[in-house]
Amino acid sequence: MTRLWDRDEPLDRLVLEFTAGEDHALDDRLVAYDVRASAAHAEMLAAAGFLGDADHAALQRALAEIGAAHARGEWRVALEEEDGHTALENRLTAAVGEAGARIHLGRSRNDQVLAALRLWLKDELAVLAGAAGEVAAALDGIAERRGDLVMPGYTHMQRAMPTTLGAWAGAYAGELRDDAEGLLAARRRADRNPLGSAAGYGVPVLSLDRSRTTRALGFAAAHEPVTAVQLSRGKAEAGALFEAALLAQDLGRLAADLCLFATAEYGFVTLPAALTTGSSMLPQKRNPDLFELVRGRSGEAAAALVELLAVTAKLPSGYHRDLQLGKKPLFRGLDSVRASARLLAHALPLVEWDEAKMRDAVDPSLLAAERAYRMVLELGLPFREAYRRAREE
Ligand code: ARG
Repeated sequence: MTRLWDRDEPLDRLVLEFTAGEDHALDDRLVAYDVRASAAHAEMLAAAGFLGDADHAALQRALAEIGAAHARGEWRVALEEEDGHTALENRLTAAVGEAGARIHLGRSRNDQVLAALRLWLKDELAVLAGAAGEVAAALDGIAERRGDLVMPGYTHMQRAMPTTLGAWAGAYAGELRDDAEGLLAARRRADRNPLGSAAGYGVPVLSLDRSRTTRALGFAAAHEPVTAVQLSRGKAEAGALFEAALLAQDLGRLAADLCLFATAEYGFVTLPAALTTGSSMLPQKRNPDLFELVRGRSGEAAAALVELLAVTAKLPSGYHRDLQLGKKPLFRGLDSVRASARLLAHALPLVEWDEAKMRDAVDPSLLAAERAYRMVLELGLPFREAYRRAREE
């Protein structure tokens, strides 16, 4: 038997391939978290008297070993097993016999998957916030080293006023730190313990202590009422993707600036050869593909968010298999933003800034507003009058 629910009749191969789909492979990312949640669940069962000391000890040992073997790449969730929860229970039972068959008491894969997903998401949001912080730190480095270089500030892509490289870098650094805060705040919806909701309607007969797993797994609270848990699936994920989409947008706009600055027309930045790519036809070309792809990929988290919302929208309450389809856009969207942030944190310190080109772009017309303000200050003119004079000068 490979599935937990298998009976005598074999499962149609095409149906297995369609229903398990990529889910078994996606679940490899959740195995470590499923192991953690399973250990907490087993500990709760033992404390409630549903697992003897020997069985409990054997289960904890086997969970640790199976988790470590997975981390070393020694096993992967197989298509035949349908998902990671099945793979874990199969391996537990193979390792410790009957004790393995006792672990699923009082839970369902419906709350099990949510426990693993939420634990994963809380970690991942912190990692992504950290990645945003690293890009911000790279921008701080630019501001520290070359912050007083003068350059035009643009509106409508037209030169508007003088500004500095420090002000440009500080703007992005500030927004990225704000994005990081948003990502950390998005952990709120993931911070409720789904265990104990089981298939979606709680656990009959046994009285299980939900506060035990809540504490052991570091959730802020048990998710109440149990009937709300399946209704909430996808919401913590959507919140995470939304915040990631905002981060992606800032990274994409930063990259868009750099693409412009790297043109011969601007000439503000040059990239070391190792950061550029070439052309198959035009021997002279060095292209800023890395920044173009950060710009190009900045819609991926938003697209993933739309895909995820489309899965949950209009579903009746309770668990539905549709819900597993949320994992793919979640992983894809967050991975995309993480990759872009990593790349920018790596590349930004290597960009070279051309002081002369930047200064030459600040022609005297950019001081018009400044001249008008001085006339207001020194001559007491109404602003509109000073504005007219400044334009004519
Ligand atoms: N892979 C499934 C998911 O992500 C696990 C839960 C399966 N539950 C079920 N009743 N078939 O939703």
